Amino acid sequence: MTASPGKRILLIIGGGIAAYKTLELIRRLRERGISVRAVMTQAAQQFITKLSVESLTETKVFDDLFALTDGSGMGHIELSRDADLLAVAPATADLLAKMAQGLAGDLASTLLLATDKKILAAPAMNLRMWLHPATQRNCAILKADGVSFVGPEIGGMACGEHGPGRMSEPPVILAAIEDMLKHDTRIPLPAGVLEGRRVVVTSGPTHEPIDPVRYIGNRSSGKQGHAIAAAAAAAGADVVLVSGPVALPDPLGVKTLHVETAEEMLKEVEAALPADIFIGVAAVADWRVAKVSPSKIKKDAKQAPSLTLVENPDILAAIGHQSKNRPALVAGFAAESEKLEENARAKLAAKNCDMIVANDVSESSGVFGGESNKVCIFTKAGKESLPLMSKQEVAAHLVAKLAAMLAGSGR
Ligand code: PMT
Repeated sequence: MTASPGKRILLIIGGGIAAYKTLELIRRLRERGISVRAVMTQAAQQFITKLSVESLTETKVFDDLFALTDGSGMGHIELSRDADLLAVAPATADLLAKMAQGLAGDLASTLLLATDKKILAAPAMNLRMWLHPATQRNCAILKADGVSFVGPEIGGMACGEHGPGRMSEPPVILAAIEDMLKHDTRIPLPAGVLEGRRVVVTSGPTHEPIDPVRYIGNRSSGKQGHAIAAAAAAAGADVVLVSGPVALPDPLGVKTLHVETAEEMLKEVEAALPADIFIGVAAVADWRVAKVSPSKIKKDAKQAPSLTLVENPDILAAIGHQSKNRPALVAGFAAESEKLEENARAKLAAKNCDMIVANDVSESSGVFGGESNKVCIFTKAGKESLPLMSKQEVAAHLVAKLAAMLAGSGR
């Protein structure tokens, strides 16, 4: 039995005579419980029809870069990020050259550039094209970039010549895909993308005292915030982590400041500015007790004490609305148990953020204190839903996205 049921492949079909073999490949992938979304280049459609591919994948085939949502609610970034692995078959000389140069002039090449998942290429071309120094140079670049290859095989070709250039047979490509799916298929965050940048992160809960022994708090463990601080440090940033009370060690290479209350957290965050990026992950208590009792409140058998609450400062909103010291990017989280999208978008606007990461914190999700998270990222440009991931994976993804946004902002 395969180790890959439930996995998703984005199959990029290039324009070569070997395209007919991808029909068999799709059939075999699906037999193994692997779902397939296909993208066809214009050239591929000269060899096999969209109808055949749609019939075998039982889903729409994508081929147009400019139909961004293509009537399916799928933007091209989402299309490539939604897969566990990208397979290019046949990987023609033209597609390999585009990949090596980072060109993005059509849907296939754009997806290959925009992906955060690993890529398997199954080259197929005439032997002269395969042996040409340009193709060999491109393959060397792609291998150095982490692209995996299966084939080509040596054998007779459709053009009548004999030599290397035949696309591997579907069972061989299938085995290579299954082998890759056994391992982590994410492309690691390039080291140094935040070199020279300063990032301030809040994490954990705040504890708002009631008296010397009691406090108002919440179930945040700090795992998500600490993972983000660690990922930003791994990306080369100078990171200040302002953490509420948690039972976690300080992340390596991160300056960690420990606070108890929302007011203390705000003070430390403001003192840590200026920064390029602020990420508010802390579950800040919205209220504190108006008058903290200096001594332990005694239990009165007749009457429970009543507490008057006042609103805490909103740290994220305060940083988002800073006039002088506003970081280039301000990101926050939205912990929601209902109307995720509506509430996240409202927070994006009200707190003047560049990004809101929404997570479902209803009890069944296990996010508070758990090891994994399923987030949906909202920016002014749109929305990106990520599958369930470890908190470290979510952190790496967010840091990569923020680094790309920062680079794109020109600041
Ligand atoms: O710590 P873990 O156990 O790993 O759990 C992670 C998490 C669930 C705490 C985290 O993923 C998360 O959702 N953090 C935000 C929690 C929260 O307070 O959400 P909110 O929707 O109430 O607040 C929205 C945003 O405003 C957050 O970025 C929050 O940090 C910020 N905020 C809220 C209130 C306040 N007074 N000041 C703030 O800065």
